[in-house]
Amino acid sequence: MSALFQPFSLKSVTLRNRIAVPPMCQYSAIEGRANDWHLSHYASMARGGAGLVIVEATAVSPEGRITPGCTGIWNDDLAEAFVPVVQAIKSAGSVPGIQIGHAGRKASANRPWEGDDHIADGDKRGWQTIAPSALAFGPGLAKIPRAMTLDDIARVRQDFVDAAKRARDVGFEWLELHFAHGYLAQSFFAADSNARDDIYGGSVENRSRFLLETLKAVREVWPENLPLTLRFGVLEFDGRDEQTLIESIDLTRQFKRAGLDMISVSIGFSTPTAQIPWGPAFLGPIAQRVRREADIPVSSAWGFGTPELAEQAVKNEQLDVVMIGKAHLANPHWAYAAAKQLGVERASWTLPAPYAHWLERY
Ligand SMILES: Cc1cc2nc3c(=O)[nH]c(=O)nc-3n(C[C@H](O)[C@H](O)[C@H](O)COP(=O)(O)O)c2cc1C
Repeated sequence: MSALFQPFSLKSVTLRNRIAVPPMCQYSAIEGRANDWHLSHYASMARGGAGLVIVEATAVSPEGRITPGCTGIWNDDLAEAFVPVVQAIKSAGSVPGIQIGHAGRKASANRPWEGDDHIADGDKRGWQTIAPSALAFGPGLAKIPRAMTLDDIARVRQDFVDAAKRARDVGFEWLELHFAHGYLAQSFFAADSNARDDIYGGSVENRSRFLLETLKAVREVWPENLPLTLRFGVLEFDGRDEQTLIESIDLTRQFKRAGLDMISVSIGFSTPTAQIPWGPAFLGPIAQRVRREADIPVSSAWGFGTPELAEQAVKNEQLDVVMIGKAHLANPHWAYAAAKQLGVERASWTLPAPYAHWLERY
């Protein structure tokens, strides 16, 4: 019996299996608006059989976009554009989720296939970035952000709240806050990007404040019966990992007390000099430690994209849900292929009936 193909329930939501499509930016929006590309992309992901499809990092405010092609949800019109996406994901039997975020000092970048670096100063496609402190990330992403005032911090926190309300109102059933990957929230937590001397900088308690405050404020408006999750870089691979991990696990316990239902364990990406030990399923043991020590359901990504690795991650109690990213881009029917490979009975029924019926019969 496959562990990967067991349902997973969180709050009032049940995923048909433990496979999720993680947020993956499409860099294809115009002025933040989701369009036909997003509809066909997310529909195909859901049709393939994954239990959960999380829509890409969607900016809570215009300056929070990573690139000019990123989706946004900073007004009702942009939120409405997601209605067909939500409906398409649901019609294929997946749960529709969305990741909302703010890219902080990594915003105002070119699309990955057009450079992946900051838009040059003076180029009118770019904009002023904001961050906890006026510290640039490093080569390529070298633009110096404006240090946020206390008013800026309050405003962005409220932007997260308003974005969560809109996501709720257009029918998303799973919300993920993007607190990872060196974007705004992560850059408050990481000491290297936060040199503030007020209540948002210095001690780990202060560096955690923006994250905790934002989570608590969002929990107030996100329905109690729907999962509220966040993606967090629990370590940086910068040589200080045991200490960072201890602090991250402690913060995860606080997140849980503040109403977090699940955490997606990821990498900080706060420093360009990190030595990341890329390899198959390499975050599995770290995610398992967070799962045990913070006593909270976890998901993770990065290299789980073969059926055996994904199956083992669930069977060995490392992960509750496995994020399968690039392998889904290569094959949107990844879940079906995995079911067949793992010998799941009636594997075709991973797919929606109009496909499954024929594959099972003939
Ligand atoms: C095209 C692309 C876009 C991505 N965009 C996001 C994003 O919007 N938010 C996020 O948290 N991670 C993003 N990621 C990271 C993925 O969610 C995932 O962690 C990564 O692809 C590793 O998993 P994999 O080895 O299964 O591909 C992106 C990855 C890719 C390939």
